[in-house]
Amino acid sequence: KTEKTLAIIKPDGLLGNYTDDIRRTVVEYGFRIFKEKIVQLDEATVKSFYAEHSSKSFFSSLLKYMTSGPVLVMVLEKDNAIADWRALMGPTDASKAKITHPHSIRAKCGLDMQKNCVHGSDSTESAQREILFFFKELSADVAAEHD
Ligand code: CMP
Repeated sequence: KTEKTLAIIKPDGLLGNYTDDIRRTVVEYGFRIFKEKIVQLDEATVKSFYAEHSSKSFFSSLLKYMTSGPVLVMVLEKDNAIADWRALMGPTDASKAKITHPHSIRAKCGLDMQKNCVHGSDSTESAQREILFFFKELSADVAAEHD
């Protein structure tokens, strides 16, 4: 069924000029870019977005990374968008992705476990939360999808 998911091109992706490439791949794989915007995240916003990771040892370095430059936030739409975007991104650890999933986005533009270039929602619930986190104006669309 048609779903929406939240994708983020992280600071390394934007600074490394991977945006056009990623956009092209996304469209090639049948996603529609439903909404997008560039934002400079501050610490409070990243803390709240990644709240589930707040107790992890890498949290402070994640905050530093995600605030190091602007990010491109996108709502992607297609059939099975959540799982398909995760598959297209490849494994979290970009250094491993280079070996096991060489054609994935993280293999191409990511570096390691942290600097992995892109984010994607991991479930229906997180997609809903993450889309509304950045695009409050989509609350009606998101609600309609889960009728
Ligand atoms: P993401 O899928 O956006 O979700 C949480 C992010 O935290 C993850 O991508 C990485 O950028 C980062 N991350 C996850 N695990 C680690 C780790 N072990 N060390 C450093 N950063 C991590």
